[in-house]
Amino acid sequence: MRTKITSIATYLPEKVVTNDDLSKSLDTSHEWIYTRTGIESRHVSSDEELTSTLAINATTKLMQQADVDPMSVDAIIVSTTTGDTRFPSCACKVQGAIGAYRAFAFDVNAACAGFIYALAVADSMMKAMKLRKVLLIASETITKFVDWTDRSTCVLFGDGAGAMLLEQTEDDNTGVIATKLYANGEEEKYNSILAHNGEQNGNRGYITMAGRTVFKYAIDYMAMSMNEILAESGMTIDDIDWIIPHQANRRILESMCKMRDFPLEKVIITTQEHANTSSASIPLALKDAMDGGTVKSGNTLLFTALGAGLTWGSAIVRI
Ligand code: UT7
Repeated sequence: MRTKITSIATYLPEKVVTNDDLSKSLDTSHEWIYTRTGIESRHVSSDEELTSTLAINATTKLMQQADVDPMSVDAIIVSTTTGDTRFPSCACKVQGAIGAYRAFAFDVNAACAGFIYALAVADSMMKAMKLRKVLLIASETITKFVDWTDRSTCVLFGDGAGAMLLEQTEDDNTGVIATKLYANGEEEKYNSILAHNGEQNGNRGYITMAGRTVFKYAIDYMAMSMNEILAESGMTIDDIDWIIPHQANRRILESMCKMRDFPLEKVIITTQEHANTSSASIPLALKDAMDGGTVKSGNTLLFTALGAGLTWGSAIVRI
């Protein structure tokens, strides 16, 4: 039995903020942001658009395009670090909104590595509990947690959501081939949403990040997890058609490929339009690459991500 991604849909907020827009109110420039990160613009949610709104919009599209009966869904798993409320979960809000009343529902929080964590959880539960249809959603409104006066963090992030339908298949030649997860809580200090900074935004807290340190960890840990998952799967990078990494920063991906000998020409990069959408970035990049005809049915994909925690991991999936 294999877990297969049978359909994917995304939702991006309508409002687009360019680097030039940001440079009107901040001491920054398109030149600085683009050369350091590869980001040109990002989608930013309105006050009315919550993480659940983005998740529900992506999921509604998915249900229509894949013609899914909501009552056939067994479980809904949402990866998010920016849920509307501490509880109920975003997953329960999606369940109610789409009328999937048979499904159990919960959120996974592993920051920017959340999609890979949630995929691993979904894959394991589908096998262990014999689930037939699972909705796996990554939805983030990370821009609600940035300090728009802090140029070192606010220029980096964007909002978005991706929703996937996961189904069981007996075809052992497709679907999720392997997942590998890691965490190191000792590195928590480098990348956080600090509640004590939150007096100005309703106690939600603002993102703080030791950019240079996280940059180095991202290269080391993503490369290490890709090498380990390939070795454990009896594969090499030649068996992979496309690497789809977390889209934090184009320069991280270029440096990683140069320093750790990964082929940059196999890396899907959408940082320019999406910026860092935390755990939504891999589903958003995958959908773009499929729509553009880059990723095709039958391709073998290597997902990798690193986020706050630190958390990181990789997955190999045949689409
Ligand atoms: O998704 C979770 C994981 N997160 C990441 O992967 C992020 C990893 N880190 C990074 O992407 C990069 O470290 C950043 C893009 C955040 C920063 O790039 P950097 O090359 O490491 O720059 P820096 O933080 O060392 O700052 C260099 C200079 C500083 O000025 P001084 O001290 O040299 O005078 C900053 O004040 O750039 C300045 N600076 C800016 N200047 C213009 C910082 N932000 C900006 C800005 N515009 N937006």
